[in-house]
Amino acid sequence: MEPENEIMSAYTIVFDHLVNLGPGDSATTRKLVERLCQDLSSGPRVADFGCGVGASALVLAQCLPTARVLALDSHAPFIARLKAAASVRGLEERISAVVGDMADPPPLDGVKGEFDLIWSESAIYSIGRANAFAWWRPLLNPNGWLVFSDIVWQHEPAARSDMASTFWVREYPDITTAAGVVDELAAAGFNTIDPVLSTRKAWSNYYEPLRERLRLLKKCEDNSQALISLIAELEREIDVYDCAGDDVTLYFFLARQDYIPE
Ligand SMILES: C[S@@+](CC[C@H](N)C(=O)[O-])C[C@H]1O[C@@H](n2cnc3c(N)ncnc32)[C@H](O)[C@@H]1O
Repeated sequence: MEPENEIMSAYTIVFDHLVNLGPGDSATTRKLVERLCQDLSSGPRVADFGCGVGASALVLAQCLPTARVLALDSHAPFIARLKAAASVRGLEERISAVVGDMADPPPLDGVKGEFDLIWSESAIYSIGRANAFAWWRPLLNPNGWLVFSDIVWQHEPAARSDMASTFWVREYPDITTAAGVVDELAAAGFNTIDPVLSTRKAWSNYYEPLRERLRLLKKCEDNSQALISLIAELEREIDVYDCAGDDVTLYFFLARQDYIPE
């Protein structure tokens, strides 16, 4: 197998059967969607970028019963799982699950952009916030909402542990505070911005099933080198969560460019 395929295959194996592929909490997702409901026209066009296996795409489709949802992820096996989950829930007509790049999202129903809501949980880090704001803002309808979750520093630099600082700066050089993200959004042209702290449960929803999955996988004797490396990398991340988890936290950012008709 090509090294790149081996890495992709290791991802598929590790995250097989896991629902949250990053920190997340469906109760928070649901609460935020319900809060935005009243602002959305009927039949809203919704995108979930970096949707994984559908932790949020399924909630979006369930909470917005007239929405069309473009669920986009670059990893084909995740999209295959999402399609199966949507079909079990009778949502396959309203969720268009597509393999693609959120740096250049494909059209939904033949129309590019014109989204009333762009959602993205624990995925914006992979293309960088500045790129995401620049690329996604033109895809929003006037008064359309951008909602994303992101890992941010909880404390000022002097109060952060060395362990967390070393790990997160290496893994996520773009990491900043919630106030830092708000400033970036304002600079990118969003003028209604609401940061919402997620729950601690969002972290255990991700790390506890992952911890158990890694424990089982380590018992296998024929793991590829890529899988062994990925397991070690994720174990390091779990160690940081165990020892210095309070240094970072998860925020949702709800942002809109207010449209004032002339
Ligand atoms: C940490 S996971 C979060 C998945 C999901 N939102 C969740 O909360 O369970 C990040 C996801 O982003 C996807 N991803 C990374 N870069 C991407 C890109 N350029 N375009 C589309 N998806 C991407 C990965 O395949 C992965 O499924």
